[in-house]
Amino acid sequence: MLTQNPPQDSPTSDPHESHKGARPEDDTLCWFEGQWTRLADARVSIMTHSFLYGTAVFEGIRAYWNEEHEQLYLLKAREHFERIVESAKILMMDPGYSVDEMVALAIELLQRNGYREDCYVRATTYKSDEAIGVKLHGLESKLNLLSIPFGDYIATDRPISCGTVSWRRTSDLSIPSRAKVVGSYVNPAFSKTEAVLNGYEEAIVLTHEGKVSEGSAENLFMVRKGRLVTPGVDSDILEGITRAGIIELARSELGLECEVRSIDRSELYVADEVFLCGTGAQVSPVASIDQRSIGDGGVGPVTAAIMSAYFDAVRGRSEAYRNWVTPVY
Ligand SMILES: Cc1ncc(COP(=O)(O)O)c(C=O)c1O
Repeated sequence: MLTQNPPQDSPTSDPHESHKGARPEDDTLCWFEGQWTRLADARVSIMTHSFLYGTAVFEGIRAYWNEEHEQLYLLKAREHFERIVESAKILMMDPGYSVDEMVALAIELLQRNGYREDCYVRATTYKSDEAIGVKLHGLESKLNLLSIPFGDYIATDRPISCGTVSWRRTSDLSIPSRAKVVGSYVNPAFSKTEAVLNGYEEAIVLTHEGKVSEGSAENLFMVRKGRLVTPGVDSDILEGITRAGIIELARSELGLECEVRSIDRSELYVADEVFLCGTGAQVSPVASIDQRSIGDGGVGPVTAAIMSAYFDAVRGRSEAYRNWVTPVY
């Protein structure tokens, strides 16, 4: 018999492979159709509208284990659930729960699964009707939440190589960039795949106008002549929660006011520092873009300072940013 996927315990060199789904013997719980369910048992019909058309919105939320505090800290939980409400609104859905209720569900999920390590919560609001027909209106929606242990998504311990790709970031006129629409992730998948198959670790994606937008699933910052710059919402970015945090850290920790403006691809080549950021990516320094080294190819001083402040904040080590995290236990 032909199988499409290799067995889940087959050896692999792809770090993302470790984030594959629940094994049958796994007792991990998820929130599914209004109750706590074994992740291995949470299944939807192949006629589900969101499976057929990508009509779902999602959030990825990290939780960081702090060994010294014996505590798990859920990062920016309110901001993520506020954004899922916004994304859902754009797709004419309602998660069916308030932001507070969703935060409470995420915390209970992590408690029930008893993690003592870094992990990741995926919340999805999806068109749950079993229906053929391309549309957004007049369909039921549901919320689910699942969690998995999670390490680095892209390297943070060394600078990475990036390449601009031929694909363009979907414009807000095609699929709203500020909404985390499941179906729209085919666009970053094209970008990431092109970059990786061309030998780079991550993609830099341009807008239809040729301005720098973001990475495949990360916002981008550059440091040039002492100024910190990031593209604005007019560059079809996702309005990143990490991006907002970095702008705050730069201001309060380094006294650097971030300039929000469009960036040309060639400006990146002559930047002193570039880094990517996002829930998955965290803060990831960039060594080179299109085979031009950024600065000396190492981690620049602004990036290093921001990384250090960021990792202290997310692990609950800094009093000043205690409001970024919610203790789970
Ligand atoms: C396309 C895209 N851009 C940027 C980001 C970073 O956003 P955030 O910091 O809110 O995770 C993500 C991550 O989810 C993303 O998918």
